[in-house]
Order: sequence, then C-alpha cells, then structure tokens
Amino acid sequence: MTENILITGASGQLGAVMTKALQEKFGVNHVIASDLRPNESFEGLFEILDVTDNEALKSIVAKYKITQIYHLAAILSAKGELFPLKTWDINMSTFFNVLEVSRQLSVKKVFYPSSIAVFGSNISRVNTPQDSNLMPSTVYGISKVAGENWANYYFEKYDLDVRSIRYPGVIGYQSLPGGGTTDYAVDIYHKAVKQEHFECFLKETTTLPMIYIEDAVRATIELMDAPAENISIRTSYNLAGMSFSPKEVADSIKKTYPNFEVSYNPDFRQNIADSWPMSIDDTKAKEDWGWKPKYDLDAMSKVMIDNLKAYYNSVIA
Ligand code: SER
Repeated sequence: MTENILITGASGQLGAVMTKALQEKFGVNHVIASDLRPNESFEGLFEILDVTDNEALKSIVAKYKITQIYHLAAILSAKGELFPLKTWDINMSTFFNVLEVSRQLSVKKVFYPSSIAVFGSNISRVNTPQDSNLMPSTVYGISKVAGENWANYYFEKYDLDVRSIRYPGVIGYQSLPGGGTTDYAVDIYHKAVKQEHFECFLKETTTLPMIYIEDAVRATIELMDAPAENISIRTSYNLAGMSFSPKEVADSIKKTYPNFEVSYNPDFRQNIADSWPMSIDDTKAKEDWGWKPKYDLDAMSKVMIDNLKAYYNSVIA
C-alpha cells in the first residue's frame, strides 16, 4: 500500500532534515511538508498549516490521503518558560488535533517526539532509566509527559499506532534550533567555523545527552519501520547518542581550531539543564528495534566543521 506522509513543523531544526529523509524513503510526491509560514527553500510538496486549526489539519489529511503523520511542531524548553500557559496550550492542542484527526480519518501511524525534558531533578542523572518517575522542570517537559501518556492512551483505546522517542539535544549543520536548552551545542560550531568568540549560556561542566541529527532521523525511521509487535513502549523510548559538556565540545572543536575561545555566562537555562539527565539508558530501544548510534563527539565535530566551512565559504564567495 502507498504511504502518504505529513510532517508538521517541517521548517524546524529536525523537520527540515526529516523531510528530506522521508522524501528519499517514500518519494517526493508522497511527502507533504507543512509549517506555519511559507518556506521557499523546500523542494517538494509544502502546505501552510497551523496545527491548532483542527479543520485545516483535517482537510490536508483528507486531500493527500495521509497514512502517517510526523508531528514535529512544538514550542521547546527555554522559549516555553517565557509563555508557560501558551506553550501548554499550543503543544497539547496540536497533538490532540493530530490524534483525533488520525483516529477519525484512519491515519495508520503517528510519530510523536518526546524529549529528555520529561525528566526532572528527582531522577538519577547518570544512565537515567526508561521508567523513571517523571517530574519535569519546564512546561515543555510537562506537555511532553502528558503527550507520551496520551500517545499510550490512543494506542490502548483506539489502536492508533503512535510511536515516540525521547530525543536528546539534536545537533546538525543543516538547520538551526530555536528556543531549546541544548541549542548552544549547535551555535558553538557556527561560531568556531566563523572564527568568532563563543559565549555559552551553560556552565562548562554541564553534561547533557546529545545526538547527531543523522542518528536522530535514522532512529525515528527505524522505530517507525519496526514491526508493531516489537514495540513494547507505547509512551516514549529513551534514546542515547552521546553525552558531553560545553568544555568537552569546545575541546573537540579545538582539535581543528586551536585558538577557539569560549567564555561561560550561565542564564536561566542553567537551571533547566541541571534538572535533566547527564546520560540515558536506552536498553529498550536497543532490544526492541536494534538501536545503535553511529556518531560520537569527534565524528560529529568533523562533519559539523566540514559542512559549516563549506557553507560559510559559499556564502562569502
Ligand atoms: N533540545 C530540546 C530543548 O532543549 C529538548 O528536547 O528544549
């Protein structure tokens, strides 16, 4: 059977790269990228879509006979703290619309991104277990915990095949993150390649779980491809890529740019980071669908620097 894919939040950090990967897998004419605003840089099908608008979502799902939705639109951890109630409202209403429209129009599979932000300071921060008691410190995290439970509810009650990953901080050269606590780990590469000074909003020793974007996208596709009977977690899977602190990523960058300078000026995002895991136990993802990351910190630094160098050279040229 032909699969037709809808991606919400397709202009976001993950959406941009996920859309390309899904186009390669399913064919350009079977992938509909959507976002709030027009996006001229997309090759392929694109729709302007505000996912808080149930009718608008419904008509796009009907128009393209959508069979799978990747619901990437959300307000992230740091930005969410500036507008807590609005963030709750947007993150929940968009997911409810995706769940309801999927149920009503027989969408077969839904991907819902969760996050390390579901964990709070009550957890054990090293190799944080899958079944930790979830007491998030941000409204974004609260919305993701609720979303995970609604995913499980729709699976149990309506047999809707919702699958989910708790992403670590995602790092890639192709797109910029916006509004997250882990965003520094992308910005630091841009500053290094531009040979500028970097001021970090976290302390140098703050270790967080991170993942290279190619691994994050591959994990998502592998999870969505896995036979349904293998999926034992219907809330959301812990997923690990690598773990590092700002100092460790700076040291990795210094192997290429020995004069790179970083200063540290922690702001409100430090408290968020301090409530998150340092590393993740992803045994279930390994067991159930064979997860294995390819990139460690130095391998990621190499692709980040090579690609950003090529990008900035082409902008200047
Ligand atoms: N990277 C996200 C953030 O920092 C976590 O999901 O908000």
